Amino acid sequence: MKIINVVGARPNFMKVAPLIEAMNRYPDQIQHLLVHTGQHYDEKMSQAFFVDLGMPRPDINLEVGSGSHAEQTARVLMAFEQVCLREKPDLVVVVGDVNSTLACTLTAKKLGIAVAHVEAGLRSRDMTMPEEINRLCTDVLSDYLFTTDHFAEENLRAEGIAAERIHFVGNVMIDTLLKHRDLAACLDLRQRLGLKPQGYATLTLHRPANVDDRSVFAGILEALAQIAKQLPIVFPIHPRTRKMAEQFGLEHFFQTGLPVRGLWITEPLGYLEFLHLNMAARLVLTDSGGLQEETTALAVPCLTLRPNTERPITCEEGSNILVGNRKENILREAARVLNGAVPTGRLPQLWDGQAAVRIVERLLAHQGGMFP
Ligand code: UD1
Repeated sequence: MKIINVVGARPNFMKVAPLIEAMNRYPDQIQHLLVHTGQHYDEKMSQAFFVDLGMPRPDINLEVGSGSHAEQTARVLMAFEQVCLREKPDLVVVVGDVNSTLACTLTAKKLGIAVAHVEAGLRSRDMTMPEEINRLCTDVLSDYLFTTDHFAEENLRAEGIAAERIHFVGNVMIDTLLKHRDLAACLDLRQRLGLKPQGYATLTLHRPANVDDRSVFAGILEALAQIAKQLPIVFPIHPRTRKMAEQFGLEHFFQTGLPVRGLWITEPLGYLEFLHLNMAARLVLTDSGGLQEETTALAVPCLTLRPNTERPITCEEGSNILVGNRKENILREAARVLNGAVPTGRLPQLWDGQAAVRIVERLLAHQGGMFP
């Protein structure tokens, strides 16, 4: 079976790493190639993750770079079509919900190539999120829908997707987290920054809904600056967030230099460094998707600065609380957590480090049977 695994943006790398490892167990049955679309290209947004996760270098880089949604998606469509025509894979594996996920799915299906979507069925029901559009379109086209929890399966069934296409396998992102947890714990970053376990919070913030409107962004930063008076917040800043902060003249909220204090910004961190910080954080604040799951796996309280989540299992079973992006709500919920109302939750079913192995076994079992 010839498989092309696709990565494009930062949250894809830790999902594909365990899949490659699981595929390597079957060298006689699986030949695989890694295609990087180049959606993310900065060293710290891309290359650093290959090193941390021990991933092979991409066999092919499409180097599409940044652009509007249409431009970026269209560039992947055109470049990936050439790769598929040349390599003639039996299957394309896509993960997550970024523009590269959708573009490669569409390309492959139009060429009659089977597609497996890992992390299928997540729904925020918020069509203003570009990722929601990517998820819906990717799922309707994919042959194999690998899900992380029962909510995802219910969403897909409600959309009329046949049960045979849906496979509940667990969470590949948590495979990676469990594998690297001990290694991350041994780093000395906390020590170098002068941070004590439970003595700081971490933050990620990059969603257009939070950083593209000046008054929304400023309101969030005011809340964060207030929380940071009590507990320093380590903020590895996403390039688009930095750009918007500069454009809006909001950089005065940020602290730099040592010692860590207030709302302290740093360049995007590597996978191991950020895991190292998150595992001993008193609180994580985020608008990312994956971090909601990682904090649930680590049993660290997480405040999600969004009005909705495509990952409700992290609120129902894990340590996640949805707080939206209004200043008063962020402050109220942060105070609750800092006063001891700490949700720790439990690990959802099959988030056990074996999801990628299940996926590859499922693909091999279907080989020859289900591929179009
Ligand atoms: C993308 C994903 C989002 C994911 C996020 C994680 C889509 C629609 N969005 O958002 O789901 O949560 O990645 O980071 O696919 N930039 C750089 N260097 C880079 C990459 C981006 O400076 O290596 C800057 C550019 O100004 C670019 C902007 O960030 O225009 C946005 O990048 P893009 O890939 O379009 O979306 P993200 O906001 O990163």
